[in-house]
Amino acid sequence: MTASLIDGKAIAATIRAEVKSAADRLRDERGTVPGLAFILVGDNPASQVYVRSKGKACEEMGFHSVTERLPASTAQDDLLSRIESFNRDPAIHGILVQLPLPAHINEQTIIESIDYRKDVDGFHPVNVGRLVIGLPSLRPCTPAGVQELLVRCGHDPAGKHVVVVGRSNIVGKPVLNMLLQKQKGANAIVTVAHTGAGDLVPYLRQADIVVAALGKPEIIRGEMLKPGCVVIDVGINRIPDPSAKNGTRIVGDVHFPSASTVASAITPVPGGVGPMTIAMLMKNTLLAAEGILYR
Ligand code: GUN
Repeated sequence: MTASLIDGKAIAATIRAEVKSAADRLRDERGTVPGLAFILVGDNPASQVYVRSKGKACEEMGFHSVTERLPASTAQDDLLSRIESFNRDPAIHGILVQLPLPAHINEQTIIESIDYRKDVDGFHPVNVGRLVIGLPSLRPCTPAGVQELLVRCGHDPAGKHVVVVGRSNIVGKPVLNMLLQKQKGANAIVTVAHTGAGDLVPYLRQADIVVAALGKPEIIRGEMLKPGCVVIDVGINRIPDPSAKNGTRIVGDVHFPSASTVASAITPVPGGVGPMTIAMLMKNTLLAAEGILYR
């Protein structure tokens, strides 16, 4: 192992502490307590875990939070009316509808029904568009966490060649759009590689910074990387592991043992990008409560 570890857990704790003191100030000076509404439809076990840990983070921040648990059979119109009432509720500054949704509900319709000023996921087309043209907006949490990790551990992407692997609307595309901006903490040369590339190696070999977000366990190996590169692994994949207590373990999209002998710095999974996502959600909720992004 030559690479240094990028400690997402520690950086996320720093951000949460910053958000908490800003939230305390907002409460003392303006009487505003940030409020976040979670809507969970159905009983996806991973979603339950995520919503629980996001709720715990709200408690730690002193935020007001409500969790609405709806059955998987909930009609789309009923979900839309719940969102509408949170849109109107002045105590709620952020609305998070946990994805995925049951198949009979149109995800895009739901995303677009959220008031974009309360869209703490940054998925609303208004926020996507504002991100692309470089205007202030609520930004998707995981990509914002990737950018914060890079900047806070001394790997400013400015002037660097970043290769993003994966083009999802949740990670790949927003990472591209964030790091591309002529702004502080960005100004990178960005390539997006994806399944259409066939062979990823010619792209990876040119990367100063790799952002792996393709959702395939341990697919990126050390031999594919440029020596000394920085690796940010967004993947969360559960694989069989007979030696583990429950028979499985969580790995990233990067094969950590080989990549960590080639890279100069790398995020672990878990404990890298994961904790940053929740920290950035807290930050977004604070920003929404401050209400200054869209003035
Ligand atoms: N499910 C998996 N990731 C996310 C996310 O970032 N936001 C929401 N709302 N649901 C998710």
